[in-house]
Amino acid sequence: TTYQVAVLVGSLRKGSYNRKLALALARIAPPELKLNIVEIGQLPFYNEDEAAAPPAPYADFRQTIKAADAVLFVSPEYNRSIPAALKNALDVGSRPYGHNAFDGKPAAVITLSPGALGGFGAHHHLRQVLACLNTPLLPSPEVYLGGAAELFAPDGAIAKPDTEAFLRKVLAAFSAWIQKHKG
Ligand code: FNR
Repeated sequence: TTYQVAVLVGSLRKGSYNRKLALALARIAPPELKLNIVEIGQLPFYNEDEAAAPPAPYADFRQTIKAADAVLFVSPEYNRSIPAALKNALDVGSRPYGHNAFDGKPAAVITLSPGALGGFGAHHHLRQVLACLNTPLLPSPEVYLGGAAELFAPDGAIAKPDTEAFLRKVLAAFSAWIQKHKG
């Protein structure tokens, strides 16, 4: 069985370390995991007044999440919390009420920061939200990565062998987690 994993990157900037990490993960993932970045920057801020006539990009996004077998979050930390664009994507996907696209999707969280704390604050705020969205969330290994500026080789590969080995272990654990929940 192969599993389609929707990857939500918490940064919108072109040169994002987190986007680089998402792409590097797609390359080292075990063959049964197909990692695809799902864009979130095109989603307008959620506004309940528009629920009856939602912005056009919402339908596609919700359908893409619903079609995925699992969701992987790769995010920086903004002011010790979740970047607004990512929180907005979670809010958009969670509605309309009773049609939460994330419901039951096995999920995992990776945070990456140039600083030493590895996005710990964002990581756990994200876990709080995902509990509300009923995503079976990989408990461990916990992934807080610091030193983002030194993590990548010029070709985008992960330059630190110990970190790459760790991330391969994380992806294997996530694969087993998805299998456990999806069969
Ligand atoms: C940051 N940054 C940051 N870093 C961190 O480790 N903890 C934090 O609380 C914050 N806060 C924060 C707030 C805002 C508004 C911005 C724009 C940035 C720095 C951040 O980690 C850095 O810009 C990363 O490079 C962002 O990730 P990407 O875009 O490289 O994936």
